[in-house]
Amino acid sequence: MKTKLLPNYGASVGLEAYDIDWDCQEEIIELGKLCASQCIVFVNQNIPTTKLNQTMMSWGEPNTPLIYEAVLSKKVSGRHWREIFLGVAYLKSKHDENLPKYAFLGMGHFNNKPDENEANQVINIKNYGKNNRKRPIGFFQNGELNWHSDQCTLDDGQRIVGLQSLSGSENSQTQFLCTHDAYESLSSDMQSMVKELIVKHKWVDNVMAPVLDPLQTLGLRYGMVPMDGMETRLYSETASGLAGMKIPSHSFDGFVGMSRTESDRIMDEINKALYQEKYIYTQNWQDGQIVFMDQEITLHKRPTNVQDMDQRKMARLIFHVNKIFNTQKSKRLTQVRYKGNFYSVDDFIDLVDQDRKRMFEEFKNKEKLLEYKINK
Ligand SMILES: [Fe+2]
Repeated sequence: MKTKLLPNYGASVGLEAYDIDWDCQEEIIELGKLCASQCIVFVNQNIPTTKLNQTMMSWGEPNTPLIYEAVLSKKVSGRHWREIFLGVAYLKSKHDENLPKYAFLGMGHFNNKPDENEANQVINIKNYGKNNRKRPIGFFQNGELNWHSDQCTLDDGQRIVGLQSLSGSENSQTQFLCTHDAYESLSSDMQSMVKELIVKHKWVDNVMAPVLDPLQTLGLRYGMVPMDGMETRLYSETASGLAGMKIPSHSFDGFVGMSRTESDRIMDEINKALYQEKYIYTQNWQDGQIVFMDQEITLHKRPTNVQDMDQRKMARLIFHVNKIFNTQKSKRLTQVRYKGNFYSVDDFIDLVDQDRKRMFEEFKNKEKLLEYKINK
């Protein structure tokens, strides 16, 4: 495996890896380490998705958003989960014959019995095919996507997404922004402050994905910010120890113990240091390419509007790197921080379940009231 600098990109992390021997286990592990520490790794080699899956499986465990897993395994169920269950399960059920046996379409794939020998369950296809225009078989079917990282409300171990362009990807782009350089550019006082700050999250519809339909927005919410009041540390690092920030790009609701005005002032200062052209890598897709990206201190966005190029099909795999690193940031999630307290994963899922039920009842009552008024 060899590496070179990415074109039109001046940040200190991010590389292109080439001449990879996909059958050499040592190189596969090297590639995993590179992705974890470089945050953005472009690979211009066309490999089957099954091979990509196998590769990432040697880096760590697969990951499914917490609530999707709970919904699909029926850990939470009932009328109040129905829309979300149907949305996630529908996407899960749409197989593509060219993908690994356990590959599912759309976001939130889940397999009750992971089989180490089989391709794993977390493949996410974004398909905007003409025949599927009325009923998309992938998540995020419409419009552009603003800056985000995967499951931004969890202080989980580092996750790497492998995004692969399968077909129709020409003229579409994905952009990547690693926070490392921006963090390093802050004054040492500011860095110390960042290390102390705890972010409060709140979901706001249509900020991350402006034109998704309401059902997909609801599904997305439970993948990103399952409950308002979740908290994460602003400072973060990769499993290899590279410093950066976990930026609440669409869910910021202030810092713990600080007024909203003061919180906004600090966040604005950080954003000003962060969102700079020189730190952004733009991938102009051709079919058969891969970009690996970190989710801990790295953001991504889709600047192109997919309605204009509805044949695009991408595969998305997400894995931890806990098999190749043994550091604090390689460990899987055991606790969730919510309104100043730590909850076990199961207790937190119970809280989300109650919260969802409350919202659902509220909504139902509002509908009833409306019906009553109309009938009168
Ligand atoms: Fe994304």
